[in-house]
Amino acid sequence: MSGRPETERKTDGFDAGAIRRQFAILNREIAWLDNAATTQRPEAVLKAMDQFYRQHNANVRRSVHRLGAEATAAYEGARATVARFVGAAAPEEIVFTAGTTAAVNLATFGFARWEIGPGDEVWVSALEHHSNWVPWQQAVKGVGATLKVIPLTPEGRLDLEVFRKGLAAHRTKWVAVAWVSNVLGAENDVRAICDLAHAAGARVLVDGAQGVAHLQPDVAALGCDFFAFSGHKAYGPMGIGALWGRRELLEQTEPLLYGGEMIARVDDLKSTWAEPPYRFEAGTQNVAGAVGLAAAIEWVRDLPAGAHAYVAELAREAAARLAERPGVRVWGPAEGRVSLVSFSVAGVHAHDVAQVLDGRGVAVRAGHMCAQPLMRRLGIESAVRASFAPYNAPDEIRRLLEGVQAAQELFT
Ligand SMILES: Cc1ncc(COP(=O)(O)O)c(C=O)c1O
Repeated sequence: MSGRPETERKTDGFDAGAIRRQFAILNREIAWLDNAATTQRPEAVLKAMDQFYRQHNANVRRSVHRLGAEATAAYEGARATVARFVGAAAPEEIVFTAGTTAAVNLATFGFARWEIGPGDEVWVSALEHHSNWVPWQQAVKGVGATLKVIPLTPEGRLDLEVFRKGLAAHRTKWVAVAWVSNVLGAENDVRAICDLAHAAGARVLVDGAQGVAHLQPDVAALGCDFFAFSGHKAYGPMGIGALWGRRELLEQTEPLLYGGEMIARVDDLKSTWAEPPYRFEAGTQNVAGAVGLAAAIEWVRDLPAGAHAYVAELAREAAARLAERPGVRVWGPAEGRVSLVSFSVAGVHAHDVAQVLDGRGVAVRAGHMCAQPLMRRLGIESAVRASFAPYNAPDEIRRLLEGVQAAQELFT
């Protein structure tokens, strides 16, 4: 990796090995290049969860005994950590969910759909994950509203000019957009989208799933109305994530799950709800998950300077080297990769590429990556994706390239 521009020199001296040693699973000698699907968890996260179960386990907000108080303190402490992480005005603006998918569904069906009526429009972007596309299809269905799509430029960025011209004041109610594409790899100009949408009187939900591990989330700077993310894509546990929403919006949001712990009072025939965020957290919560998520956030926050630039440089380098190979087509904008590269190999199915790589101990994702509408726009059914984290080494790019070459030799 020579001849790098100034910004990339920050990666010099970054010790990926020291990071890697914190991940027991990586002792298996796997080149884990499937971080965009799920990252691995450092000891700090595993220990925090283990400690919760060994020392503090109890239901939260309902037990008067000391373990109940400790578990509640851990859970609400985790909420405060998430709130600080995303720049929320208060911990009460954070709803714990099972992940991004659950968070998007809560925002869509708890709030947005009540604002969408006949003749209204909702926009999604052409690069959305199914999690931020299908719920909006369902939300417009049956109410006489229309789903519109922000198209891509030939370079693979969102075409904001088309979006600007297509926005209909008073008719466009919601815009749903990913912070970072899980296929194309670039950061979207979410701020510009939010400004345009707000000027037209619409609100914006941002899917932060692919951003939080690598970029500093700040909901005020992004300018969105709701922000969703998953813990497991940022070194935290599976089954936990969060929805951030401004307090006044959460106050108007309907619960999606009804039952214990989300109520203020239950009478025979009707009930009233607890304040947000508790009204959205019915039933026994994933407390160990929340504790693990908070530990992961602290771990990300304490990463050495240069970690994010290092990851971006791995992605840039992998994309550049893949693009040099005959028969390989790299997808997405040339500049501004955050952490991943998707590509196709002429004459070789993506699954075959992934299988050959797996035989060489290199784990990548292959398939439609839950972005079928985007795949169709790219004219493909599937692609291969290599995605990076601070524990990956430049040598793993070499192994990736050798595996791709081996797949080409085998299948073409
Ligand atoms: C951009 C994006 N949005 C949403 C999701 C869904 O996240 P989860 O499965 O954790 O709900 C993913 C996961 O791949 C993603 O990459």
